[in-house]
Amino acid sequence: MRNKITIIGAGNVGATAAHWAASRRLGDIVLLDVVEGVPQGKALDLLQAGPVDGFSGHIKGSNDYADSADSDVVIITAGLARKPGMSRDDLLAKNVAIVKSCAENAAKHSPRAVLIVVTNPIDAMVYTAFKVSAFPKNRVVGMAGVLDSARYRTFLAEALGVAPRDVNAMVMGIHGDNMLPLIRLANVAGVPVTDLLSREQLDGIVKRTQHGGAEIVNHLKTGSAFYTPGLAAVEMAEAILTDSKRVLPCAAYVEGEFGFSGCFLGVPVVLGAGGVERILQFALTDEEKKAMAESEAAVRKQMADTGL
Ligand code: LAC
Repeated sequence: MRNKITIIGAGNVGATAAHWAASRRLGDIVLLDVVEGVPQGKALDLLQAGPVDGFSGHIKGSNDYADSADSDVVIITAGLARKPGMSRDDLLAKNVAIVKSCAENAAKHSPRAVLIVVTNPIDAMVYTAFKVSAFPKNRVVGMAGVLDSARYRTFLAEALGVAPRDVNAMVMGIHGDNMLPLIRLANVAGVPVTDLLSREQLDGIVKRTQHGGAEIVNHLKTGSAFYTPGLAAVEMAEAILTDSKRVLPCAAYVEGEFGFSGCFLGVPVVLGAGGVERILQFALTDEEKKAMAESEAAVRKQMADTGL
């Protein structure tokens, strides 16, 4: 039997995630939205790419959660996107109500699924989905680390003049201005970037990564990034569906890891059939600990604002 993936929200991120999921042969896809016609039209269009691209999974657009029943993975992208000048926090009140309804319905119709939350502010929305679904912590995870790390790796690769895939680098903490792109552990095929780039260059790349989302919002003016956010969610879904044990930075529920408890924070996790199977812990420097504590404080403020 094929895997089943439901993507809630047929906007730019959701539709793009469906596109990546189809091209990666992840399984049957349900694209769900409250707006009538949009998921149906986009799903039908994508389905018709099958003969050309070669995928044979079914793709269905729907307004009805019954069509999402028994999904293996549910990706929640529904919500409003940022406009120029808006922080991710400005979205919180509106998106908390949307994500509540998505998580409630996802839990009801797909009680065994892993939920991947993409809606911003991600760290608060993944907490919302965790609370509302009442799923165990390993089956609720937030996308952000893969996206932020991809931006970080792109900028490092550009500065180094090397293939982006050979750059290993990770962003931890919140998906917000306090995120922590780790310089100390970043490397190109094992060679530390600190031996290849100046401190000044690295600081510039860290800043650009921290504001990577806003840079795109400022260009687009009417919304936020979607190609790489959609792919990042699919990369996580693929790791879960294929039980590949990929190590990806994700927003996971911490219970003592890195000294933090009771919230979602971006940390390196092992993703497999069980969802978040393990968090990989390692010793942080004092400076990194301080940055993670700032991330945690910002996440806690968002959590309080959800009223959950
Ligand atoms: C970004 C949005 C998705 O970082 O938060 O592009």
